[in-house]
Amino acid sequence: MMKRIAVFTSGGDSPGMNACIRAVVRTAVYHGIEVYGIMRGYKGMIKGEIVKLDSASVSNTVQKGGTLLKSARSQTFMTKEGRQQAFDQLSNHKIDGLVAIGGNGTFTGAMLFEQEFGIPTVGAPGTIDNDLYGTDYTIGYDTAVNTALEAIDKIRDTADSHDRCFFIEVMGRDSGYIAIPCAIGGGAEIVMIPETQMSTEAVIDTLRTGWKRSKTSFIVIVAEGDEENNATTVAAKVKEAIPELDTRVTIIGHVQRGGSPTAADRLLGSQIGIAAVEGLMNGMHNVMAGIVDRKLVYTPFHETIYKKKLINQSFMRMVEILSV
Ligand code: F6P
Repeated sequence: MMKRIAVFTSGGDSPGMNACIRAVVRTAVYHGIEVYGIMRGYKGMIKGEIVKLDSASVSNTVQKGGTLLKSARSQTFMTKEGRQQAFDQLSNHKIDGLVAIGGNGTFTGAMLFEQEFGIPTVGAPGTIDNDLYGTDYTIGYDTAVNTALEAIDKIRDTADSHDRCFFIEVMGRDSGYIAIPCAIGGGAEIVMIPETQMSTEAVIDTLRTGWKRSKTSFIVIVAEGDEENNATTVAAKVKEAIPELDTRVTIIGHVQRGGSPTAADRLLGSQIGIAAVEGLMNGMHNVMAGIVDRKLVYTPFHETIYKKKLINQSFMRMVEILSV
């Protein structure tokens, strides 16, 4: 029987985390479970920054970006001593279940913690990167893509006016999930992602071909985690090879992490929040709640962490066809 649970957000924040926190709190209240919020992820857990939440604590939050519980990355939690301190704090508050909202790093910590101290934990996929196995989409991904796309549309206007080639870097530490829809939706000529090998030489060839065919402006989307390095490096090499090309670089950066969540992210955050609490109540632990093919699934943490969610390679072909 779950009597008291706690929820926290950890790692990079993402739009829709508040919708998820709200759903966790309200589902707990609905089922008569006491619910606490841990501030600043594992960092706050170690320090005992644990506050009681009720239905009113999450009023007027579903539409807000960021995370009301704040977030942090903690090195101390990666040590046994850190985790022991965190466990002592949770024991003092008599917490008997956790909902961890975050990405890969968050679940790696949660898996270790549960193995060592046995507090059942259910994860909610909260990251803009969409790089977690066990869910088609992560909370915040849809908003981040739309934010990036809005910026790319604006850059396209100026690129076109000045006959320029823009190298636009989007987020995605180890994945091209943000880059792909930005390239297709933003009408890019080229997309560079960590999951596929594309040399700078191939980029130069494609741009040269376009240039010869009288294309005057170009958009190249580079995922920050691409193996050929970042947009700045690629742009410099291209400029050296095609000096007549007027190149510019834009790094969209953390603007992708903020803002009011889209309807899709509010819905996903809410669905997952309910599923996380009800999963705990039904004895689930060491798993992440996700939506695959529109169905709720619980995937063991070790699979979400170590299995790679593959990118559909046909998307690369789409970019090629559509930029002809
Ligand atoms: O994991 C989400 C993410 O935004 C990545 O896309 C990016 O590489 C990273 O976090 C940036 O982290 P920080 O906010 O710590 O600079």
